[in-house]
Parts: sequence; structure tokens; C-alpha cells
Amino acid sequence: MTNTIDRRTILRMAGASAGTAALVGATMSGQAPARAAGGAFRHGVASGDPLPDGILLWTRLTPTDAAQPGSGVGPEAMVTWQVAADPNFSTVTAQGTLSTGPARDHTVKVAVTGLAPATTWWYRFGYAGAWSATGRTMTAPPADADIDRLRLGVVSCSNWEAGYFSAYRRLADRGDLNLVVHVGDYLYEYGTGEFDAGGTVVRPVLPAHEALTLADYRIRHALYKTDPDLQALHASVPWVITWDDHEVANDQWSGGAGNHTPGTEGDYADRVAAARRAYVEWMPVRTGVDEAIYRRLRFGKLVELSMLDLRTYRSQQASGTAVDDPARTITGDAQMSWLKNGLAASTARWKLVGNPVMIARLDVGALPAWLLGPLGKLLGIPENGAALNADQWDGYNADRNELVNHLLATATRDVVFLTGDIHTSWANEVTTRATGGSAPIAAEFVVPSMTSDNINDFLGLPERNPLSTLGASLLRATNKHVRWTELDGHGYGVLEVTRQRCRMDWYHLADRTRPNSASRWAAGWSVGVGSSVLRQEAAPPA
Ligand SMILES: [Fe+2]
Repeated sequence: MTNTIDRRTILRMAGASAGTAALVGATMSGQAPARAAGGAFRHGVASGDPLPDGILLWTRLTPTDAAQPGSGVGPEAMVTWQVAADPNFSTVTAQGTLSTGPARDHTVKVAVTGLAPATTWWYRFGYAGAWSATGRTMTAPPADADIDRLRLGVVSCSNWEAGYFSAYRRLADRGDLNLVVHVGDYLYEYGTGEFDAGGTVVRPVLPAHEALTLADYRIRHALYKTDPDLQALHASVPWVITWDDHEVANDQWSGGAGNHTPGTEGDYADRVAAARRAYVEWMPVRTGVDEAIYRRLRFGKLVELSMLDLRTYRSQQASGTAVDDPARTITGDAQMSWLKNGLAASTARWKLVGNPVMIARLDVGALPAWLLGPLGKLLGIPENGAALNADQWDGYNADRNELVNHLLATATRDVVFLTGDIHTSWANEVTTRATGGSAPIAAEFVVPSMTSDNINDFLGLPERNPLSTLGASLLRATNKHVRWTELDGHGYGVLEVTRQRCRMDWYHLADRTRPNSASRWAAGWSVGVGSSVLRQEAAPPA
């Protein structure tokens, strides 16, 4: 991962440079132009994890044509960065230089500090007389600030081979977002043709084979970062991201993955280390102790956002009543304590949770064991019913119970999970045995895949076909806490948070296989403060 010397150096440079505006011009004009064809900053610019006084900036330098991602080739190079309060950079507020090179795949991450809160900033990078594209970002409000509104784009499951990133384009075009939250599967590890658009490769991946090595993951990240829609959204708003399984391999757990074969694909620990190193290099994400990426960000008194990592510490997926085993975990002990304590102690109005896999129960017909009593146990039915997908929280009942029980015991309200992974759209009320028939303890809004196959794609039928509609009705009939689901649309969500309510609106694409596809409003659901009962919105937001 990013070594500590690099990070210290970056932080020192960032901290020391705020307010010193002099040397950049000299540096820029003093170097001989040596621009690589395609531009030195062809992978775009990005920002992430805004704090009241700082922001993380990202880019990737291509100093020479030979210095391709994953090549391990190319010179050490000094990159300049600037932050300004206006897009013309007439007044530069912070700037500095830092070194990058092949050891970090020529990626550049700057943790800028010393900025004013709740402010829009423009930023850019310079090398050899050329500037990158200009990015726009903003710092978070102070923790004690009264803010009226926060608007978030919410996305997941962006699969290159299954289509174009029109969802990113539509979100970038809005111009009214404070933040984009990506809850995982930012990229997929598969080789070409292994997971595409219902059997058709819309656009082939690089490398063509499944990503296994550090070079492979770097090349895959670099490919995604060439997408113009992805670049536009990164450049227009700060992102807060977490990973799900495909950033490493399908159905990942702490000691392996469904899509990893140790005999032919090498040691799993080596693969994880490679995938995560490339991720930390290529993504605008802050990491903590032991490179942990679960973390919490605050936006005034209105929102605290906890981003979860549900892959690094989890037990292997199980089935049947094994999903009730209290020895199994999806969060790991440390993250569970951090999550419980953070939610219960939060003074923010809304506790949002970036949650890679669905936490609401999803039963498939059989009644939960707790309703059937001893008969359910005899029949081998898991406590919360027969789970459709044990890769979700359904496969880890003890952890879900522990979290929900803690929310109940501490009377913690106004928790909203923002979820991806399941490729379909859901508005859920979170209930368990502990909540029984009483009020739900939290709300969950699940965004569909941006492009990855979902139900009609698997069926080979058009969207909103009778089978998909029937499936949605059956799921709702056996899961009363599922207030709405739609199984065919691809797209994104927009969450608007005010003091009174959280409202999620789902937008579905006309055609994921076409660039610049239009999107249409599919549904809106909201939850009011003090209650986790969902309410359907009759019309798109004004
Ligand atoms: Fe996915």
C-alpha cells in the first residue's frame, strides 16, 4: 500500500503550502515540455473524503509514453497541485509539489489541509508546463454548523463490459450534488466475456484476462479512469467510496473468494494485497490504521456518514442454519464496536451508513423460524427465514441482531442505510426478530446496478416484463418490510437530506448499452425524522 514515508511527505507538503502562492509559475515554466501523447493527466482528476478543513485530491501522471499503468516503468517526477477559490485560479489558496513514480504507478494523492469549511474549491495538477483538467470540490461544513440540506448521488455496480457510465454523466449534469457515495463494485475483476451485458460485451476490458496481479489491477483501474463520464463526475464533486467484493474478486471474504482458485490463481493473500494496493493508489479514499477503509465523515449537525467495509473481516459465506451461528461475523469485532458506538453516540440528525450489501431481511417463502417456533428449528429454517442471498447481512444474522438490538437498547433513531450490490432497486424498513411486529428500527434505500446484469438481463427479457413484475410482487408478499422493489432498471439514486426527512429518488437508464443514455424517474420514497416507516412520494422532486 501507500508507504508511510510517501504519506508523511504528502501531508507535510500539503500542510506547509497553504497560502504560499509563489513558486508554481517558476516550476511550471522552468521545465522542458515533455508531454506524453494523450496528455500527462489522461486519467482525469478526483477528490474525496471532504473534511471541514481539508480534501483529498487525486490524479495519475503519465510522464512518458512508456510509463503506462501497471508497467512499473517511467521516471520519478515532480507534480504540482493548486487549490483556488475560483475556476481561473486568480487567487491560489493552497499549493505544493510532490514526487510520484513507478512504485505507486505514478498515482498522486494529496491530503490538502488548512482550507475554509463549506466552501467550493477548484483544483488542478501541473507537470512539465501543462495543467490537468480543472476539478471542482468542496469542503464539509463545521461539525456544529446548522445546514438545511445535503444532496448525494448514490451509485454501485459499475461494470465496464455491460455498458456505458451514463449514470455518472446524468449525475454530473445535475450540478446540485454535494457528494457522490459509491457503495462498491466500482470495477469488476472478470476477464472479457465473463460478465457482460446479458452475453454481449458492450466494450472489452483491459487486461483481457481476469485481474490477478498488481499489474492487472492497476491496468483495470486505469481503464475505468479513462471513461469520460466517470472523469466528469469525479471532476465535478467529491466522492466518498467503499469497496464491495469485485474490487478484489466475487464473493470475497476474509480468507478467500468465490472467484478465486488457489491452485491455479496463486495465493489469495497475495491477490488481496495486490488488489488493495492498486485500489488505494487509484481511488480518492483515505485509509486509517492497518489501511482500514471503514470510516466516518460528518456534515454539520445534519449528517454523519459511516462507510462500512464488509469484505475484509467477514467469515466465509454459509447456508442453512449456519447463518445464525454467533461465531460468524460480517463486520469483524472492531468495526462492529466502532459502528454501534458511533451510531448511538452521534449528535447528527441523520446517521447514514454506506453499506455495501443489503441489511434488510430477504426471505424466499418459508416463514422465519421465530414465527414457526420449534417447528422451524426442526425444519432447519434460519432464524430470520430462508435467505435468498447469504452473501448479504442475511448470511450473518448474529451481527445484524447485535447491531439492531444495540440501536433498540440505545433508542438510536434516524439511521438510514445506503446500499448496493444486489443490482436492483429497493425501499426497505429494517426489522428483525427483536423488532418483531413493532416499528422498524432503520430505513434502507438500495440503488440498482449502474450497468451490471439484473433480473430481466438474466431472463433474457425486456425491462418490466411480466416475470420480473411477478417476481417483485412475490418478494414483497413474503417480505412486508420491503415497501418497494424493482428488478430490471439500471441507474442511480439521489438522496436529499433535510432536517425533516431523507428522501431517495431512483432514476433508471433508457439503455445501459448506449453512451449518454437518458434516465427517467422511477420512484421516490422518504423517511421522516423520528420514524423509520417509509412513505412513497407521488411525483419526482420539484
Ligand atoms: Fe455488483
